[in-house]
Amino acid sequence: MIVVVHFGGQYTQLIRRRVNELGVPVEVKSSTEIGTHEPPSGVDGVILSGGPASVNPDAAACVKNIMSWNVPILGICFGHQALVYATGGKVNQQFAQEYGRARLRLVQPSALLNGLPQESTVWVSHGDTVEIFTERWQLIGTTNDGQLAALEDSAHRLYGVQFHPEVTQTEFGLQILRNFVCDICQATPNVNANDLAEETMVAIRKKAGPEGHLMLACSLGVDSTTLAVLATQALGVYRVHPIFIDNGLQREEDVTFARRQHPCLPNLHVVDARESFLAALERQPDPEAKRRIVGEMFWQTFTEVAHELKKQFPIVGYGQGTIAPDVIESGQESHRAAVIKTHHNLVKPPADFPYVPFEPLRTLYKDQVRAMGQAVGVPQEILTKHPFPGPGLAVRVLGQVTRERIEVARQCDTIFIQALREQGLYEGVAQAGVTILQDTAVCVRGDARRQGWIVALWAVTTEDFMTADVAALPASFLEEVATQLTNTVERVGRVVYSVTRKPPATIEWE
Ligand code: XMP
Repeated sequence: MIVVVHFGGQYTQLIRRRVNELGVPVEVKSSTEIGTHEPPSGVDGVILSGGPASVNPDAAACVKNIMSWNVPILGICFGHQALVYATGGKVNQQFAQEYGRARLRLVQPSALLNGLPQESTVWVSHGDTVEIFTERWQLIGTTNDGQLAALEDSAHRLYGVQFHPEVTQTEFGLQILRNFVCDICQATPNVNANDLAEETMVAIRKKAGPEGHLMLACSLGVDSTTLAVLATQALGVYRVHPIFIDNGLQREEDVTFARRQHPCLPNLHVVDARESFLAALERQPDPEAKRRIVGEMFWQTFTEVAHELKKQFPIVGYGQGTIAPDVIESGQESHRAAVIKTHHNLVKPPADFPYVPFEPLRTLYKDQVRAMGQAVGVPQEILTKHPFPGPGLAVRVLGQVTRERIEVARQCDTIFIQALREQGLYEGVAQAGVTILQDTAVCVRGDARRQGWIVALWAVTTEDFMTADVAALPASFLEEVATQLTNTVERVGRVVYSVTRKPPATIEWE
């Protein structure tokens, strides 16, 4: 449980709400209630709110008492100043007021600002500022003009931010609070999956109204499938139109699942767009162009489907399964995913697309969505499925896209993934796949030497996909897969395993 200490700031309830959004129980207590008391039972961490006053001995006494509880503390604005003051620093009360948007710049890596881009927008609203902080603190962030914005005393798990992470104007505010609550305090989310599912269904019903239909993008990943199942349960089968676009670039298992018409999604519409996607990508060698083409083709196809559906049904909206990390990751500078992770969820629909995207999962994290999915009967094979990039196999064949190369990549992927499942290794890795290299290597088939294609297998373990370790798959397993690949996929002459972490490598090869 997280305790929010209220020093009179206008945003205290917002802090409470944000922590709640992370699925963690939270209690707000006034600083006088805290006084010199013992910690409430089950407290994992404390957030000190902002406040209108200037730091004073009473606030310092309260903070010192909380420090004796030995739990992580995050001070926000006034709370941050009180924390610095209580540890022997000085707060200047005559400093010029700072109000409104500012740019946060990271100074050094920190647990609190982990996962943020080098620069992002924050919301500041304060008169006083920290002038001197003692040696225990490290400066981890500044605003444009070099002003102190964030401090950390990692040895004592104390953190302070001069800005307000709890307001939406702070671009990565929820991520900062999540870093504090979930990673630093290790507070256990009290995800009540049924409540979350119920709330989401209420939002879906409200969006659709009493008679309206919804169309949904459904890639058959965890998020979009959970949304589609929730909508189906909220509105009934015939008012929900989940659309799976078969673009010819997907995993075998996804296409099979889609065509099987699973009972959890009886109204899934499968749109066969393989020809147009593959024709648009034919011979394209450039990774970013591939991504762009897949993104454009997606919207083009989807828009056509939307216009058709609109003629037949009273569609009132279009929903997609964007979740909080999609929004956060899309802001990562210099991260290629920024260009695309966008493609299905975050690229704006074209002007002729008739609906504004409705994203009821936007504030949720993967574990919450998975728990909801579990609660509403999303099949296990989807809930445990590895992620797969939107541009699919197009970025798993290095260089030129051809139909044959895509087909070989799909066959190899199917064999590798099936073998992982059969050997009980699938759920122990976060993502695995194959990449077809551009070069060929000499191989012997029968008695003849010839050039065979080179297939790289890779498998990673990771929590957040921003960094990743190489999965230590047994050598005997890899050898078996290699044998199976060279025996069954005519083109393949050599199989290699990638042993480079991210960074410096990335998970996808292009
Ligand atoms: P990287 O290659 O950046 O991948 O280490 C991190 C995660 O993002 C996925 N990824 C993508 N997902 N469109 C997507 O939808 C893309 O263009 C894309 N590129 C990478 C990748 O599969 C991994 O899970």
